[in-house]
Amino acid sequence: MMTKYPKTTHLMQRGAEFFGCEHAILCGAMSWVSERHLVSAISNAGGFGVIACGAMSPELLDGEIAGTRALTDKPFGVNLITMHPQLFELIEVCVRHRVGHVVLAGGIPPKGSVEAIKAGGAKVVCFAPTLALAKKLLRSGADALVIEGMEAGGHIGPVSTSVLAQEMLPVLGEDHLLFVAGGIGRGELIAGYLEMGASGVQLGTRFACASESIAHPKFKQAFFRASARDAVASVQVDPRLPVIPVRALKNKGTELFTAKQREVAQALDEDGIAMEEAQLQIEHYWAGALRRAVIDGDVEHGSLMAGQSVGMVTKEEPVPEIIATLLAESEAALERR
Ligand SMILES: Cc1cc2nc3c(=O)[nH]c(=O)nc-3n(C[C@H](O)[C@H](O)[C@H](O)COP(=O)(O)O)c2cc1C
Repeated sequence: MMTKYPKTTHLMQRGAEFFGCEHAILCGAMSWVSERHLVSAISNAGGFGVIACGAMSPELLDGEIAGTRALTDKPFGVNLITMHPQLFELIEVCVRHRVGHVVLAGGIPPKGSVEAIKAGGAKVVCFAPTLALAKKLLRSGADALVIEGMEAGGHIGPVSTSVLAQEMLPVLGEDHLLFVAGGIGRGELIAGYLEMGASGVQLGTRFACASESIAHPKFKQAFFRASARDAVASVQVDPRLPVIPVRALKNKGTELFTAKQREVAQALDEDGIAMEEAQLQIEHYWAGALRRAVIDGDVEHGSLMAGQSVGMVTKEEPVPEIIATLLAESEAALERR
């Protein structure tokens, strides 16, 4: 195939073949943001879009997949959160729609989930937080892995992308499909990860402000104004309540989350709610807070989940332009080598 980006395309070939797309650039699922419009725009532009199921019910997911299909005939994936109480029903919905790729996020996949997806004919993509877990996930049937560093927006782990990439790509990159996420704002970095053995990359923050994204104009404005240091990780208030940190732009919502943690910790003490229920309450809080910012445009009290690459997001651009820019930057870097 003739391509404007031969070196990048060559290095992304395995990843692109796996996802059935032209360029192995994924738009990571973003709750409320990654719905039919953005997902189809990414896939139509040659990348790989992923629907964020988040807290959706099976009925809502069913409608979103059908709605996305109506807007693109290219492949796209679905991201399911492992702690969703109806995970297996959601998997059934994906299988029924013949979704080709299911991304399992939010923790180690529960027993039977990987098998159920594969039995339905889809590929499974998992997040690998450590090298040991990466090996385990591959042994348990994961077809590809995303390694996501703490620079990313949304829920994050404790280790940076650059360190995860060094730990995992040289060891696993040759024989397995690894995609790098977190902190990617330019194509030069994409070139670097591809050369280290990545099969492709995943971006979220950069695509959240694309023209095709339905995020509220105020949400996008907040991104354009922000610099890297404004995207901070949430702090755990109570040592007994292990909350997964979330990276978001600082605002009043950051303080509200601290208060929410205290409230849930108190419920743990006084009402005797189970830890699982406590953690679910925290996740529901995030879903609601993100909705307030993304959909309602409440950028004061809502959650402005954003990665550190937000400082490089300065204007609204159509998805095809963003992808073309990233590819051109990667290609120029590889040509200079
Ligand atoms: C607003 C927002 C919401 C997100 N929601 C989810 C989600 O629901 N599920 C998920 O697996 N990742 C989620 N992420 C992470 C992205 O899929 C992606 O991995 C991450 O944004 C990549 O790092 P970057 O922000 O530095 O590009 C979210 C990120 C953002 C910015």
